[in-house]
Amino acid sequence: MLEIANVGVSFGGLIAVNDFSMTVEKGTIHALIGPNGAGKTTLFNSITRVGPRTYGKVYYKGENITALPDYQMIHKGIARTFQNLHLFNGMTVYENLYAGYAYHYQKMFPSIFFGGHKKFIEEVNAKILEVAAEVGIYPYLSQFPSQLSYGILKKVEIARAIISRPEMLLLDEPAAGLNHQETEELDVVLTDMKKQGMTILLVEHDMDIVMKISDRITVINFGKKIAEGTPAEIARDPEVIRVYLGGDNNA
Ligand SMILES: Nc1ncnc2c1ncn2[C@@H]1O[C@H](COP(=O)(O)OP(=O)(O)O)[C@@H](O)[C@H]1O
Ligand SMILES: [Mg+2]
Repeated sequence: MLEIANVGVSFGGLIAVNDFSMTVEKGTIHALIGPNGAGKTTLFNSITRVGPRTYGKVYYKGENITALPDYQMIHKGIARTFQNLHLFNGMTVYENLYAGYAYHYQKMFPSIFFGGHKKFIEEVNAKILEVAAEVGIYPYLSQFPSQLSYGILKKVEIARAIISRPEMLLLDEPAAGLNHQETEELDVVLTDMKKQGMTILLVEHDMDIVMKISDRITVINFGKKIAEGTPAEIARDPEVIRVYLGGDNNA
């Protein structure tokens, strides 16, 4: 579904991502894990073209999307969330979801804002209510981000990402800052998404979370792939154990 081929990112003399390749198969939850500073966010941003890429290629369903601008990804069916929340604080949760949807829609069909406006509003309203129920944020739709806990806001961000029903969802550290219960709820939401046929690339720092829901795990350290396999294979991989428990990194 998504193929990352020999991607590299350098910042001046620092090599953040080093000749990195991985393939995410359709219908799977594929986790990319690694200690702090391993290069996860840099790789993630280079895939979504929010950050730089020094070399390498990215393919989506066999199509070369290496040069595709980030805002066009959604039209291919790829949605993403950010490690730091990107919500509008002056808008309610409902309005944030609306804005997220309308933003992408507008780029496809500018005319909807002239003709067919009422129908569009009704359609978006139905989508918002549906996705809010699915993710568990229905009770918070009329509230502002500042009134809500971090765990709820993370769900709002996921809801906003999936409202356009993408085929693929890219998540950067969705569990960061969540407590145990919130993390378990997130697991359920992501597993449900997968059941609906969505393909998920999950970038995470915490190994426990990905062990439970991932079909496949790729491990990155110092910008290099150091292991790849099923959760069971990764759990007993000596190099992974060394990196996570050995304390040679600041994780
Ligand atoms: N914009 C940037 N400029 C310079 N160095 C950066 C930049 N972004 C990330 N880095 C460096 O690249 C490395 C990888 O960082 P990052 O991708 O954020 O790691 P992770 O997400 O795995 O914690 C780190 O050494 C970090 O300091
Ligand atoms: Mg990161």
